[in-house]
Amino acid sequence: MSAEPFPPGFFDRLDTGPDPIFYAPPRLVLHLDDHAVAAVGDLYEELEIEGDVLDLMGSWVSHFRRAPRHLTVLGLNAQELDANGQATDSVVHDLNLDPRVPLPTGSQDAVVCCVSVDYLVHPVEVFTDVARVLRPGGLFVCTFSNRCFPTKAIRGWLHATEDGRCRLVTEYFARAGCWDEPVVDRRTPTGHPGDPLYAAWARRSPG
Ligand SMILES: C[S@@+](CC[C@H](N)C(=O)[O-])C[C@H]1O[C@@H](n2cnc3c(N)ncnc32)[C@H](O)[C@@H]1O
Repeated sequence: MSAEPFPPGFFDRLDTGPDPIFYAPPRLVLHLDDHAVAAVGDLYEELEIEGDVLDLMGSWVSHFRRAPRHLTVLGLNAQELDANGQATDSVVHDLNLDPRVPLPTGSQDAVVCCVSVDYLVHPVEVFTDVARVLRPGGLFVCTFSNRCFPTKAIRGWLHATEDGRCRLVTEYFARAGCWDEPVVDRRTPTGHPGDPLYAAWARRSPG
């Protein structure tokens, strides 16, 4: 775990207004191209994500090939969450206002977060609390690409290279201090002309 604090301004954003205002208009769109969306579903299948699952910073699609038995979707737009055909439950909650995940301790088998980690201003606190809601050995899977809402992404993300973003997400896991060593992988081929898809995932450490 790094002892260095993040540089001043690292988590600043151009749009300093409340997130629920920015996300108030429902966006029933895909934030990745079809190939990258398929890569997310492939990864979830490969990692055998099942059971009680939380889609953190979710919307109307959760990208599972086969929906988990119980899928809670947490995001900022109730209309988007209501439109999610795989969700069995939804929670509207602003993680930048309160980084605690509003679910019981040890209630989830896995947590996924797709193309949204770049918007977190308290990522280490969120990664720590994600571990709390997981059962021992539970997985947290973060996927990300090179597109974003630039006014809402943190400065440190906007200024990082794609490799730097992979390092940053592993740093969030490390600083949270409750995760096994994360795996980082590029899930779309290098040189592929469409959206790149990267993933970083780790298991909650025992204890
Ligand atoms: C680019 S979209 C990705 C949506 C979805 N995960 C997907 O794969 O299409 C970003 C999502 O992050 C959620 N989000 C952004 N800021 C948030 C915050 N402060 N707290 C909770 N969710 C947030 C929004 O509701 C939005 O659905």
